Amino acid sequence: MRDARQHVAPRLTAVGLTKTFEGHAAIQDISFSVREGEFVAVLGPSGAGKTTLFRCLTGLVSPDKGEVRVGDEDVARLHGRARRRIAVVFQQFNLVSRLSALDNVLAGRLGHVPAWRGMLRRFDRADRLLALECLDRVGLLRQATQRADTLSGGQQQRVAIARAMAQRPSLIVADEPVASLDPAAGAGVLELLQGIARRDGVGVVCSLHQVHLARSFADRVVGLSQGRKVIDSPIARFDERAFGQLYGNGTMNAGGSP
Ligand SMILES: Nc1ncnc2c1ncn2[C@@H]1O[C@H](COP(=O)(O)OP(=O)(O)O)[C@@H](O)[C@H]1O
Ligand SMILES: [Mg+2]
Repeated sequence: MRDARQHVAPRLTAVGLTKTFEGHAAIQDISFSVREGEFVAVLGPSGAGKTTLFRCLTGLVSPDKGEVRVGDEDVARLHGRARRRIAVVFQQFNLVSRLSALDNVLAGRLGHVPAWRGMLRRFDRADRLLALECLDRVGLLRQATQRADTLSGGQQQRVAIARAMAQRPSLIVADEPVASLDPAAGAGVLELLQGIARRDGVGVVCSLHQVHLARSFADRVVGLSQGRKVIDSPIARFDERAFGQLYGNGTMNAGGSP
């Protein structure tokens, strides 16, 4: 199974991405790929360029140089419905607070239904069943009708993940999805993302602040330092030396995070 996958086009390919702000390169010549079913953690200290990289990956920012391909397509050319192939998970969840968990998940179907039906919230039975199934996958079926702003942070992020799943994406891009959560809720969210990669074959690229979380959940690590990629390795080879390259001093296992 694994071998067969080697011949499939990667879910994401970034080639030579460079983005400069006011003469300062936020990211420089970054290339990497994410395969089907693979969970890639992007690590690096604050200011290393993670958010800039993720904005380029989702097409929110145009790189000065380089390109991003999702499957066989250039992200810059993905418009409208084609964009549903990339689902985004944010640090601050980005739910509509006054809507129910279920309605927030249904928003993930907006790229799949005609715009007028989306505006009127006229989702059909199949979409509703899919949204409920996604809520069930994240363990929140019982909270389906609860307003989003009455859920805990961890629950809100799980709704956001259900919304991403409802999009039926080939790739999930998550910039620090657990930075606003307590450790237990954060681990729960990463376990879900790992399960989506493994069970559904979705490529997941996720920036993290804590190395120990990458070690628990990721298959590979891409490490950024001052806008450059300094590490690209399977998680098993992310050792003390690699840690030092990213964060300078400090010990990887002292509390697990820089
Ligand atoms: N819109 C912007 N305008 C100017 N500088 C920016 C902008 N976005 C990011 N930067 C700069 O780019 C560098 C990388 O930032 P960022 O991508 O946010 O890193 P990280 O997410 O790893 O903390 C920082 O020096 C930051 O100040
Ligand atoms: Mg950031």
